[in-house]
Amino acid sequence: MTKRTIVTMPGDGIGKAVLKETLRVLKAAGFEANYVHGDIGWDCWCKEGNPLPDRTIKLLEEHKIGLFGAITSKPKDKTLAELAPELQGKGYTYYSPIVTMRQHFDLDICMRPCLSYKGNPLNFIRRTADGGVEEPQIDVMIFRQNTEGLYGGVEWTNPPDKVYDALMTHKKFVDNFAWCPRPELAVSTRIFTKKYVTRIVKAAFEYAKARGFKKITVCEKPNVIRETSGMMLKVAQEMSKAEYPNIWVEDVNIDAMTMWLTKNPENYNVIVAGNMFGDIVSDAFAGLIGGLGFATSAQFNPESGVCVFEPTHGSAPKYAGFETSIVNPIAMVSSAVMMLEHLGENAIAEKIKNAVAKVVAEGKVRSYDMKKMKGTPDVVNQGAASTTQMADAIIAALK
Ligand code: NAI
Ligand code: MG
Repeated sequence: MTKRTIVTMPGDGIGKAVLKETLRVLKAAGFEANYVHGDIGWDCWCKEGNPLPDRTIKLLEEHKIGLFGAITSKPKDKTLAELAPELQGKGYTYYSPIVTMRQHFDLDICMRPCLSYKGNPLNFIRRTADGGVEEPQIDVMIFRQNTEGLYGGVEWTNPPDKVYDALMTHKKFVDNFAWCPRPELAVSTRIFTKKYVTRIVKAAFEYAKARGFKKITVCEKPNVIRETSGMMLKVAQEMSKAEYPNIWVEDVNIDAMTMWLTKNPENYNVIVAGNMFGDIVSDAFAGLIGGLGFATSAQFNPESGVCVFEPTHGSAPKYAGFETSIVNPIAMVSSAVMMLEHLGENAIAEKIKNAVAKVVAEGKVRSYDMKKMKGTPDVVNQGAASTTQMADAIIAALK
């Protein structure tokens, strides 16, 4: 069999350290692939005026599978100040390479798992009725629509005539907002399309079916946001009836969800939501399983097959310059596990997952975040494992 080619995009800051260690883990677990490097991030912006160079897009188009670390982005005044002098004044403008990658490849399906590892000192715990303490097992997959909704970018301040006139055809706008001077009016749209809503809901059902779960939870707000949230709920209910009669659809509003997840997080296994609510609910769940050192995600286009796997954390610039990297590689390693599952390499994926679980459960090797330490270069001398030592421990646990 010819080896697969994976596009590795370490990006900036700690993205480089966690990806490097993850590749060691993959190799030690027996995964064979060719890796090609794709440039992305702040350095590309500074040197080339383009944080997502065309050559990286071409690599992804060709090889389809990407493993991505993290990038740095900075406020507007810094973007121009840090651009190479020879590129200054030539009309370059910074854009988010991640959002652009999502839009370019139409990576509409975002999966964000939240799985608690036994023995993780960062796990959520709660009081029992008799005053004791218990730790619910959390195993949730959040399906976030990744390209539409409030993050779709269709928005205006001081909307142009045609937009304003169209708004004025809506009674609610006339009643509640027509008093506002136009230059003081800001509008961000929330656009859902049936095609992409159907795709994300379908992905959630398929996952529930494969894992044997009996319900999916639509986490929106259809009682208030009637058109868009309403569409997602209706699509889910109809799909349940027509194609998945054994999986029922639970309707939980986003606000209520953030309450329920700290009461009964174990009640949820498959959640589907639009872009912004999916972003919120996945960060909220991630907090229950250890936060950024553990939170991971995958983004797919089911038609073209392009997919990118990445930790949800950023480049953590304040730790990037340390001589010995101290950050937790588990989020990145878990992204690679999702990649393996996607490639059908389930045995290797399982092996790595079990190794991570073993390291966490044993508790002998822990990065600074798991030790609840403040992240300084000194933590390694104070008993915290470095990024490399964490990877070494995972590799040792593979056997
Ligand atoms: P961040 O996720 O980089 O870091 C926030 C804090 O979380 C860190 O200071 C650290 O305390 C902790 N942390 C993050 N990853 C960790 C790990 N693997 N192990 C242990 N602790 C970890 O977010 P921040 O500071 O808001 O943003 C830094 C830069 O990253 C910015 O330029 C931002 O634009 C960018 N960013 C990029 C993302 C991406 O590439 N997907 C996502 C979020 C932010
Ligand atoms: Mg987020």
